[in-house]
Amino acid sequence: MAVVGAGDPNAELMFVGEAPGFNEDRTGLPFVGQAGKLLDTLLDGIGLSRDDVFITNVLKCRPPGNRDPRPEEIAACEGFLAEQVTLVRPRVVCSLGNFATKLLSGRPDGISQVHGQEVDAEFGGVAVKLFPVFHPAAALYTRTMLVTLQEDFARLPALIGLSVPDAGTPSEPVPAVPPVDAADQLGLF
Ligand code: URA
Repeated sequence: MAVVGAGDPNAELMFVGEAPGFNEDRTGLPFVGQAGKLLDTLLDGIGLSRDDVFITNVLKCRPPGNRDPRPEEIAACEGFLAEQVTLVRPRVVCSLGNFATKLLSGRPDGISQVHGQEVDAEFGGVAVKLFPVFHPAAALYTRTMLVTLQEDFARLPALIGLSVPDAGTPSEPVPAVPPVDAADQLGLF
């Protein structure tokens, strides 16, 4: 079934993944499989839950066999994503992986080059900060990528204007980077 998106329709932070997979197609909800569980863990590590953000994908339907999205499929769905950005008006759009990053930046640069670097962008007539990160599915099997993803996620609260404790200020220790062991709780690695 079509997977439109889910979360807070007034969110400051929108996540854009690639396309629904098997579990998303079954439930109609984005990121409910293993990659989604990792996304939940990453959000939890920065004090957010999926109810605080809006989550959607470049494609609104599952490509057969989970193959990569095709250019004509991306083109067919682009207007829906633009409309979602227009309606939600997020301050930050966090693109998950190559497909979302290339579409939203309008540039061919791959996620390995651009992850963790915020850029001013415009989509759906809305000025946003685009913040590309690795796709959680890629980090499911590569621990170094998970650490990078956690480090990039740690920058999100400041980007959406949430107060983050000063580095030098003694306070309740809130780790900037949640423990990689969170991955173990998910049974990863
Ligand atoms: N689930 C989604 O909804 N999107 C992805 O990109 C991967 C898994």
